[in-house]
Amino acid sequence: MFRFLTAGESHGRGLVAIIEGLPRGLVVNIERMNRDMARRQRGYGRGKRMQIERDRVEILTGVRFGETLGSPVALWIENRDFKNWKESMDALEAPGSESARRQVRHPRPGHADLAGALKYDTKDVRNILERASARETAVRVAVGALTRLLLGEFGIELTSHVVRVGQVAVKDPLGVSWERIIALPDDSPLRCVDGRVERDMMDEVDRAKANGDTVGGVFQIVVRGVPAGLGSHVHWDRRLDGKLAQAMMSVPAVKAVEIGAGVTGGSSVGSAFQDEIYYAGDRGFYRKSNRSGGIEGGISNGEEIRVHGFMKPLSTLIRPLNSVDLESKEVRKAAVERTDTTAITAAGVVGEAVTALVLCEMFLEKFGGDSLEEMRRNYEGYRRQLSDF
Ligand SMILES: Cc1cc2nc3c(=O)[nH]c(=O)nc-3n(C[C@H](O)[C@H](O)[C@H](O)COP(=O)(O)O)c2cc1C
Repeated sequence: MFRFLTAGESHGRGLVAIIEGLPRGLVVNIERMNRDMARRQRGYGRGKRMQIERDRVEILTGVRFGETLGSPVALWIENRDFKNWKESMDALEAPGSESARRQVRHPRPGHADLAGALKYDTKDVRNILERASARETAVRVAVGALTRLLLGEFGIELTSHVVRVGQVAVKDPLGVSWERIIALPDDSPLRCVDGRVERDMMDEVDRAKANGDTVGGVFQIVVRGVPAGLGSHVHWDRRLDGKLAQAMMSVPAVKAVEIGAGVTGGSSVGSAFQDEIYYAGDRGFYRKSNRSGGIEGGISNGEEIRVHGFMKPLSTLIRPLNSVDLESKEVRKAAVERTDTTAITAAGVVGEAVTALVLCEMFLEKFGGDSLEEMRRNYEGYRRQLSDF
């Protein structure tokens, strides 16, 4: 069984993950993992925090001489900003002064602040926001990067690109080829494949920032190399599309998910929507369109998987919205923590990670073994089944 847990606060010492269920013998490429960490920190519209952090993954357990042991893997990411928060985030001792406690009493609309304070019965919103912060996604990207190494052993690769910022959108995002997306450099401002559209997107970000505001966006995840047969139609909770939707919605600020052209499906007729089936000796069954996003009946169908994540405009505003003081119940402006104008490019990288996590879970469920060699035997047997079909 593949599972993982994460722990860590945004301004605490650091972030931790424990991962169970990876086979023995996976070569761990730490540079590849750190590249994903760096990609998560990029993107036009990010705030100052990302200039402080230079995330690097450390492997604490479960790996020896560069290969997984089959035992739990523990990962660690240090929060460099902790040096500025030592007193305020000390595990055991509260600081003497009120200011060093850095309490937050004015919950920010759109964050976990008020709902979390009510639920966990605390008047200091910092006790909620430290964990609710998207800082946690750094360690999920690290776990995702590890699972990408495993998927890569079987020819499965993932990428992402930004297809909308505010009112500016890429035309026909499902038609953008894999090659165009992976040709984007890591330092591309918004990971948009169309340079002209990207400049308009950047203007959109600048306008929002100038108004002390934030702006929403949409990213697309593309996965290639997934064989037909991951996920299942037999139970609601084994459907691949359902699992991907849950994973995508777990990315902070993602408020809607679309598989393939699912949204336009609501205004289409069946003959214009379904992807007709073809067969050729050298490639087997294939489609000429991919409006289903590579998933039919909850099962991967062998085409590219394409999923969109819709990110709301970020909640913390430099020109804050109205709120209420949790003690006095008087009207106050919401608290202002350091914030991004948009984090859509980074959200795409997190989206890649959570997609990899789901695919890894499903892949291990179908082909799992205690060693990579055993997995390979299982996988090759299945590939023979497909080619003999
Ligand atoms: C990579 C990334 C960076 C984020 N940065 C910010 C930010 O700087 N300011 C902000 O208000 N929200 C940011 N968010 C979103 C909040 O974490 C999120 O909106 C909040 O935790 C409430 O959760 P919800 O929007 O899913 O309900 C970011 C999200 C991601 C994925």
